[in-house]
Amino acid sequence: MVEFTLPRNSKVKKGKVWPAQADANGKKPKRSKDFKVYRYNPDNGDNPTVDVYTVDLESCGPMVLDALIKIKNEIDPTLSFRRSCREGVCGSCAMNIQGGNTLACTKAINDCSGAVAVYPLPHMPVVKDLVPDLTNFYAQYSSIEPFLKTKTAEPEKEWLQTPEDRAKLDGLYECILCACCSTSCPSYWWNSERYLGPAALLQSYRWLVDSRDEDTGARLDNLEDPFRLYRCHTIMNCAQVCPKGLNPAEAIADIKGMMVKRKA
Ligand code: SF4
Ligand code: SF4
Ligand code: FES
Repeated sequence: MVEFTLPRNSKVKKGKVWPAQADANGKKPKRSKDFKVYRYNPDNGDNPTVDVYTVDLESCGPMVLDALIKIKNEIDPTLSFRRSCREGVCGSCAMNIQGGNTLACTKAINDCSGAVAVYPLPHMPVVKDLVPDLTNFYAQYSSIEPFLKTKTAEPEKEWLQTPEDRAKLDGLYECILCACCSTSCPSYWWNSERYLGPAALLQSYRWLVDSRDEDTGARLDNLEDPFRLYRCHTIMNCAQVCPKGLNPAEAIADIKGMMVKRKA
């Protein structure tokens, strides 16, 4: 049997242990939790490690992001991660927690049993620690031309839609481009240079079904390719992990349906 193993310089090693800090009276926290956090610094040439931080839960907010902020502020300022809104709106704190991709700001510490494992989104190059390089992901988003394209003369005020047509965008416009879905998709892992992945395809579908958009044919032409669209094998990981409860797999299936219809 073929045995696959990581290159020597990619193997994750044991890192530092940061025990619970005692207060001014030398007392350790009554309630604490260990966070096992992936660390990688491209500047020092060392292998990635997993550092263990013991966090005082009595003085910590309820979410995993709160713990990471506490670690950075009070224990180890060298830890890097992205975050902005801290309420599930910006998508920047997406990471892999307890083996699943999710948003650190909406993942409750209480929902994690045992030590909390925190890694960057999988199968992406790592810039540092929990920060993945999303250059390819955003280039793919850009390639689907995520804006309204029209041919008729601009209306004086706005482009109108019936409530029924507007409703077709529900389940699509809520996408925050966090990349949880694409980085949980095995097809995307193996072909991320050529397969657009569930996030970009869901966004593409958002414009394909927009009644105001007049470039449907060219948008479908852009997806007509053995890799860009058809690498989805309906494995459904994407729908399982989406923190906004969206279903990219369904959107992809609908795009395939549009392809079939226009050929009929
Ligand atoms: S579909 Fe969901 S998981 Fe995928 S990028 Fe959008 S919000 Fe994130
Ligand atoms: S349904 Fe398609 S896009 Fe979603 S995880 Fe599976 S292969 Fe990837
Ligand atoms: S910080 Fe914005 S989604 Fe988590």
